[in-house]
Amino acid sequence: MMDDWIDYYDSTHTIYVSKLHRDVHFRQIAEDIAGYIPSPDATVLDYSCGEALSAGRVADACGRLILAEPAPGVRGRLIARFAPNVKIRVRSLDDLRNMEENSLDLAVMNSVAQYMTPQELDTALTVVGRLLKPGGQLVLGDILQPDVGMAQDVIALLRFALAHGFLADALWGLARTALSDYRELRSKIGLRRYSEAEMIGKLTAAGFAASRAAQNIGHNPSRMTFVARKPG
Ligand SMILES: C[S@@+](CC[C@H](N)C(=O)[O-])C[C@H]1O[C@@H](n2cnc3c(N)ncnc32)[C@H](O)[C@@H]1O
Repeated sequence: MMDDWIDYYDSTHTIYVSKLHRDVHFRQIAEDIAGYIPSPDATVLDYSCGEALSAGRVADACGRLILAEPAPGVRGRLIARFAPNVKIRVRSLDDLRNMEENSLDLAVMNSVAQYMTPQELDTALTVVGRLLKPGGQLVLGDILQPDVGMAQDVIALLRFALAHGFLADALWGLARTALSDYRELRSKIGLRRYSEAEMIGKLTAAGFAASRAAQNIGHNPSRMTFVARKPG
């Protein structure tokens, strides 16, 4: 039995119900990230990027893209996948501590905070805050709210599946997930949730000027995205 979410994401999990689901997911995330890139020469960090299948699209829109990922197996695939792309560098989260400060224009952490303890998130905010240039932005996406349950996740997935033609796979996938490590981990260690005010408070305490974005990154409108600017 695995006991943390990094192990889960390093396993052959079924969080994406099919290849098409995985492809459209990463395409949409890449489009949404690209929308936050301030200039074509920007240096961008994708913190805990996962498989990042469409990172080439993000790299096309910026000067340099750093893909940071804690799961070693995922990181190995990222290195192999993006070796030919000179704009992309793959790093571990520990590597980020040794990077040059004030070097990033944009950092994105999408669908990650829910898997971290509050202390891990504080540490990550400190690391990213140090790396961002003054005026640079951290975009924190897919934050779960305290009062929104798993039903909204299911509805959001089914709508996404209907729009992209993988409804049957989504239904099978949900049944599989109900019997999987995901379900067991979600009930055993859970997912961290924050209200809008709590997250603004956390980002403010970490030295950012933060507000909630009108739209969440990705396909799930019941979750929240925050934009946090480093002063200066
Ligand atoms: C749902 S995936 C998100 C991947 C990508 N950012 C996206 O939007 O598709 C969650 C990611 O968080 C990472 N992760 C899990 N637990 C973590 C932790 N405690 N600290 C940092 N990253 C973690 C996993 O390795 C995985 O890459």
